[in-house]
Amino acid sequence: MDQEKIYTQSVSPQHIKSLGQYFTNFEVARFMCSWACEKASSVLDPAAGNSIFLKYAREINPRCALTGYEIDEKILLFFGNPTGAKMENCDYLLNGWEEKYEAIVCNPPYNKFQAIPHRNEILDSIYEHTGVRYSSYTNLYLLFLIKSIYQLSDSGRLAYLIPSEFMNSEYGTAVKQMIIEKRLLRAVINFENDHEMFFNATTTCCILFLNHIPKTHASFYNLSSVEELQDLKPFDSSHGCIQVSYDRLRADQKWRSYLKQEALSAYANLKPISEFCYVTRGIATGANDFFCFSLSKAGKTGIPMKCLTKCICHSADVKSPIFDSADFERLSSADKTIYLLDASENDYHDIAHYIEDGVKKGVNKKFLPSCRNPWYSMEHREPAPIWVSSACRKGMKFIRNAAMVKSLTTFHSVYVRTPYADNTDIIFCYFLTPLAQSIIRENRKELGNGLEKFQPNDLNQAKMLDITLLTPKDRETILEIFHRLKEDPQQFLSLTEQLNLLFVPYLQP
Ligand SMILES: C[S@@+](CC[C@H](N)C(=O)[O-])C[C@H]1O[C@@H](n2cnc3c(N)ncnc32)[C@H](O)[C@@H]1O
Repeated sequence: MDQEKIYTQSVSPQHIKSLGQYFTNFEVARFMCSWACEKASSVLDPAAGNSIFLKYAREINPRCALTGYEIDEKILLFFGNPTGAKMENCDYLLNGWEEKYEAIVCNPPYNKFQAIPHRNEILDSIYEHTGVRYSSYTNLYLLFLIKSIYQLSDSGRLAYLIPSEFMNSEYGTAVKQMIIEKRLLRAVINFENDHEMFFNATTTCCILFLNHIPKTHASFYNLSSVEELQDLKPFDSSHGCIQVSYDRLRADQKWRSYLKQEALSAYANLKPISEFCYVTRGIATGANDFFCFSLSKAGKTGIPMKCLTKCICHSADVKSPIFDSADFERLSSADKTIYLLDASENDYHDIAHYIEDGVKKGVNKKFLPSCRNPWYSMEHREPAPIWVSSACRKGMKFIRNAAMVKSLTTFHSVYVRTPYADNTDIIFCYFLTPLAQSIIRENRKELGNGLEKFQPNDLNQAKMLDITLLTPKDRETILEIFHRLKEDPQQFLSLTEQLNLLFVPYLQP
């Protein structure tokens, strides 16, 4: 990677980022070519850059005809055309649709498509050739993949290195659907170590292997390091892969479950969380500096308490799993920012100076305030009895909001549906357990760097135990544990372990 590092330093970071110039690990490139190019008479790399794929293709299959596309003249000048391939210095997405290839190997740019200036022209071109209209919210790499699938010959093989997010995000669903319908997916290899793949970027990564040969199942591999590729013969089932039959492959399901052997079928008595609860985002103010208050700020700005509502603005302020009024009062005395401006037109005269100051600072022109009427009023959301952190590094953070105060988007709000309202403490206790969280986590998005993000809908669609199955005796025990947790939050780990043990038998098939 020495030349690649010198190249990366010779151009601006903006140049690298805007063209997605992140170089494939050589072992990964060799593996992809060894499968795809072995018997191919023609090989295409749609995003050639340093020509690493074309080099391995030539090494593996010296007689194949090579074609590369590369939009950037600078990178071509630096690396040259070492294989003498037919190199097209133009936009892959707009050119050469009519050509078919026996092998297509690629690490496409991962940029957001919204950032591409001529995106409508690209979407029109894709529509013209495939008959499918993709949204401009998709990602550039998926459009590369769609075009390459179109250009793959009937006997051809395609290997694409793309972010694993594709398998678990909504924007990947349409392409997954096409891959399933055409029975193209031969295998997925997922790399668990986000830091290993690129020297100048951290991202989740997987390789998709596609061909047109009729097949009954796809193989899913999860590797903890690139080194494991050395022992993997494409695609024998001995290497701990999971074989998923095409009848079970679903486009709208997160494919993570196939990779991590956490298949939900391993559990019994699951129902969608949305059956018992509904999850929405917390309050979005559009200008936290303006709308959020501590007591001292309220004093200095002369905002009366009747115009403020209690609201958690930072998840770090909530330290214990059961947050009650005493916890709130402690934060208030410590002058934490835990109040939210909640005023109506009738309050205008009491707070006119503060509102006028906001207008001078342009707060009324910001997107969210400008959508409200009057702009300084707040969206109305009832306090939720349970909160869950919207992003997490180490485990999910569920909080029982016994103080019944509001929260900003730092937490998602979990409302328990009316017929199950009496079960709120029990549902909360279930969510605290490692078992419940590992079932929910199948619906998360991994953003690289270990950060996991949950959209409210990921949670609504995730599964939980059907809590109506609990026996009266177990319900009693759960509530006892809940009260002990309230009295002594220090016992959190041992109490959640006890809860876990109690729920396990219900989830066993
Ligand atoms: C992720 S790099 C891959 C480089 C090399 N093939 C590798 O795998 O190490 C993507 C390459 O695609 C090029 N590229 C970006 N947009 C392109 C486009 N629309 N058409 C053709 N090439 C493009 C970038 O300049 C960059 O060299």
